[in-house]
Amino acid sequence: MSYNHIEVRPISGALGAEIWGVDLSGDLSDAVVSEIRQAWLENLVVFFRGQTITPAEQVSIAKRFGEPIEYPFIQGLEGFPVITPVVKHADEKVNFGGLWHTDTTYQQRPPMATMLYALELPPYGGDTLFANCYLAYETLSDGMKATLEPLIGVNSSHKGRVVDTRAARIKDAPKEPNVARVAEHPVVRVHPETGRKSLYVSFAHTTHFKGWTEAESKPILDFLFEQQTRPEFTCRFRWEPGSVTLWDNRCALHNPINDYHGYKRVLHRITFAGGETA
Ligand code: CO
Repeated sequence: MSYNHIEVRPISGALGAEIWGVDLSGDLSDAVVSEIRQAWLENLVVFFRGQTITPAEQVSIAKRFGEPIEYPFIQGLEGFPVITPVVKHADEKVNFGGLWHTDTTYQQRPPMATMLYALELPPYGGDTLFANCYLAYETLSDGMKATLEPLIGVNSSHKGRVVDTRAARIKDAPKEPNVARVAEHPVVRVHPETGRKSLYVSFAHTTHFKGWTEAESKPILDFLFEQQTRPEFTCRFRWEPGSVTLWDNRCALHNPINDYHGYKRVLHRITFAGGETA
């Protein structure tokens, strides 16, 4: 794919590309939006640097790419309910979403994408890892692919440690009752736009296969979680204030690294409505 309006610089062999030549706070032409979207579909996650955007501008930008939706458990920013502040305070030890996952797969229609805008960062650390779940699927044996093809994954908002990663933020700004939401999705998901198959489970949310016990599911799930996050299937993004990321929740995992205790980190998140998974 060649681009006429933006410059696309991949940051790893697996996924992730920086996009240069775009001021997100300006009027984005349809041609620029279309090329960003193409780069996003090809690279699974795209990064912009040096942006300065207000909450209102972040919502307007988001609307060029999809339909912003609210996060179920935490109140959004005052006046901007679709913006969820992603915060870790200097005196906290746990970070929001600090394990491999794709966002809110415990919803029947999990979000298509997530956009994050970095406002305040530690002097070092706080990078985010991303992983390419197309590659995780494509590199499996034919035998494993055939085994996984009919399986349905059960995904919970309240699996193990993931509950702890949002506890402090729920305490600050509670929203709907903090009880488990559960949704079923195919383990091998066909991407609605690219048509490619990906491994659609995650360490944070997938508890077992439908019709299997957790104990029966665990050995295979553990293998799949390891497969998804093989180093050669990942990239690592180093944030700067003003960085904006946009990732595809349908085929990529992410994991914010919790290595900056004693420093505050603040980002503004918007997730986008997604469709049924099967
Ligand atoms: Co997340």
